[in-house]
Amino acid sequence: MKLLVTGGCGFIGSTFVHLALGRGASVVNLDKLTYAGNPANVADVADHPGYRFVHADIADAEAVREAIRGVDVVLNFAAESHVDRSILDPADFIRTDVVGTAVLLAAAREAGVGRFLQVSTDEVYGSIAEGAFRESDPIEPSSPYSASKAGGDLQVLAWHTTFGMDGVITRGSNTYGPHQYPEKLIPLFITNALDGEALPVYGDGLQIRDWLHVEDHCEGIWAVMEKGEAGQVYNVGGGHEETNIEITKRILALTGADTSLVRHVTDRPGHDRRYALDTTKVRALGWEPRHSFDDGLAATVEWYRERRDWWEPIKSGEYRAYYEAQYGAR
Ligand code: NAD
Ligand code: TYD
Repeated sequence: MKLLVTGGCGFIGSTFVHLALGRGASVVNLDKLTYAGNPANVADVADHPGYRFVHADIADAEAVREAIRGVDVVLNFAAESHVDRSILDPADFIRTDVVGTAVLLAAAREAGVGRFLQVSTDEVYGSIAEGAFRESDPIEPSSPYSASKAGGDLQVLAWHTTFGMDGVITRGSNTYGPHQYPEKLIPLFITNALDGEALPVYGDGLQIRDWLHVEDHCEGIWAVMEKGEAGQVYNVGGGHEETNIEITKRILALTGADTSLVRHVTDRPGHDRRYALDTTKVRALGWEPRHSFDDGLAATVEWYRERRDWWEPIKSGEYRAYYEAQYGAR
């Protein structure tokens, strides 16, 4: 089986590339190498006979047309993925998450690709006060990021309805684990704590996310790729809900950092209060999360403690400019 994985140098995409090669699939990894794309994440498979890297943009129709030849399944991980950056400037989100998805879909259709799997997010549903979102619930995205991802989802569903394309969508919950760029809550707070820097908690810190280990997320995507029904959406949620302030306390305890590092700062505009997913549908495909949050978070802290060589170079240059824009005035 030949897979086109887009965004395979990012956090979840690179984990999936390893899983797929380990299962005997061949992989074309098409990645633009934005600030979030890191060749180090796939350096160990660069010479694998089943692996090929294409440095390209998913919105570049010519490059995509060339890369997609002979591919059985497209898995679209490529995205601008950080909510705070989408609030600072949504333009790249529209270009990649909306236009890029459209370009990929057109190329997949033209090439007669067997299946198109769109890697999406629980954030397209918006916030939920009680209970858990089911796949049949309406989408009400709050941020430019989630609105752009919703645009991708709607196109995949429309391609299925209009052209009969075999499209499936996974909506994953907040994901954590090794190799995550240190702008999202968990890797940002771990690396700041290890450096004795402030941990900027937005607002009261009582927002709730449903945490999923990156390997469990990739297993869920694999299950949907293999067994999902065309035209269907599958929630992939960790089932572990926790407030941001609880996560912050865990990270302080695991790193041994001082509680005085915690700073309550100005809240994120449009901040979703809670995410929660009903995962009945994906569990019917035989998937369930294997990592407990206790063990997964402890192992993740250890990974960042040991892999300063991975994250210290990232925390310079562009990252510093972003950090100042995002946190300077807070
Ligand atoms: P990431 O930001 O770590 O990586 C994104 C990757 O996509 C990078 O390698 C980047 O270079 C590449 N990319 C960006 N724009 C591109 C373009 N135009 N063309 C080609 N490549 C491009 O993201 P991630 O956290 O690994 O997320 C992967 C996918 O999973 C995204 O679609 C995201 O919306 C979704 N998702 C993420 C989470 C999460 O908690 N991180 C949860 C649910 C869903
Ligand atoms: P994040 O990791 O950005 O994921 P998402 O916004 O996609 O859920 O944020 C997770 C939660 O942590 C969210 O409620 C916002 C909060 N947060 C902070 O309180 N401080 C921060 O510096 C960041 C990056 C996030």
